[in-house]
Amino acid sequence: MCGACVRVSRDRFILEQAEMAIPHPIPYQGSKRTLAFAIISFFPSKVERLIEPFAGSAAVSIAAAYHRRVNSFLLNDHNRPLMDLWREILYYPRRISDAYETLWHSQLGKEREFYDKVRNTFNKTHDPAYLLFLLARCVKASVRYNTQGKFNQSPDNRRKGASPVTMRQNIMAVSRLLRNKALLKHENYVDVLRAAHDGDLVYMDPPYQGVCETRDRRYSSGINSAEFVEALHDLNKRSIPFILSYDGRTGNKQHGTVLPELLALRRVEVAVGRSSQATLLGRSDVTYESIYISPALLDTMTVPPPKTINLAKDKPKIHNSAQRCLFSEIH
Ligand SMILES: C[S@@+](CC[C@H](N)C(=O)[O-])C[C@H]1O[C@@H](n2cnc3c(N)ncnc32)[C@H](O)[C@@H]1O
Repeated sequence: MCGACVRVSRDRFILEQAEMAIPHPIPYQGSKRTLAFAIISFFPSKVERLIEPFAGSAAVSIAAAYHRRVNSFLLNDHNRPLMDLWREILYYPRRISDAYETLWHSQLGKEREFYDKVRNTFNKTHDPAYLLFLLARCVKASVRYNTQGKFNQSPDNRRKGASPVTMRQNIMAVSRLLRNKALLKHENYVDVLRAAHDGDLVYMDPPYQGVCETRDRRYSSGINSAEFVEALHDLNKRSIPFILSYDGRTGNKQHGTVLPELLALRRVEVAVGRSSQATLLGRSDVTYESIYISPALLDTMTVPPPKTINLAKDKPKIHNSAQRCLFSEIH
């Protein structure tokens, strides 16, 4: 391997180790865990409140809390059982850790049958501990609902889910980071955005496009893209700064439509690595995810954002030197 490649893979390794230190209790497909650091590098030096209207596993809020970038948080997701799980994690971390531990041990020796039982019970009760177990055990940690709104994802038969010890450590750490700082809601994103005000920064990671117009099987609800664009216009009109994860591309293949120019957003492409499809085909197509920065946020920046960030090479800076900065620790 050439010297540059060794350096890149060493930086990547150190970054991955550092990212691993950030706790993540909820396994969630589409989590922005690997991009979180690039996203928070665009935060202004002082953020009174961070709003995540499409919180999911709230990877960006957790990273922002870990790096002490934000005073308070509003976590919202339309999926009510998910927000009930968040409530347990933040305010009853021992209770939810104990419940997960009991479920995890009870599966041993009868994994498939036990998973089906937990799934049936969750669909009747919406018990948050059952949801956590299902997310830890299901294929790709991906939430799937049928037309009746029942969780119908299959188990990943190769895994038993995070060990109870690891899960407890993650839950306790996230509870310490966000308890007393986060307000939890389970509203439609439009209502949350309407209530945003001065001092807020909004980070949005809506359901994937292409599924937005219809009910999204991955989530309990989808969004209408015209209504979404309207909501972004409204944030611009009120000068509320926001960051948005939206589309992406692999090589030249675009995923999702680009947003209207009228919104005056600045796009930053983050190279997240070679796609598994390209690797299989022996090609070198790199996957990029787009991050959009709103005009009100751009106005606060002294240096314009780069057009592209390569997670394996670039080291985004975090503004306030008094705060923890992962990338400055990588030398
Ligand atoms: C791509 S995921 C967000 C992932 C998140 N950034 C993370 O790090 O885990 C999108 C989320 O939007 C939620 N959602 C879908 N429609 C919504 C709506 N109309 N209002 C609020 N949340 C919604 C889904 O339940 C899902 O958790």
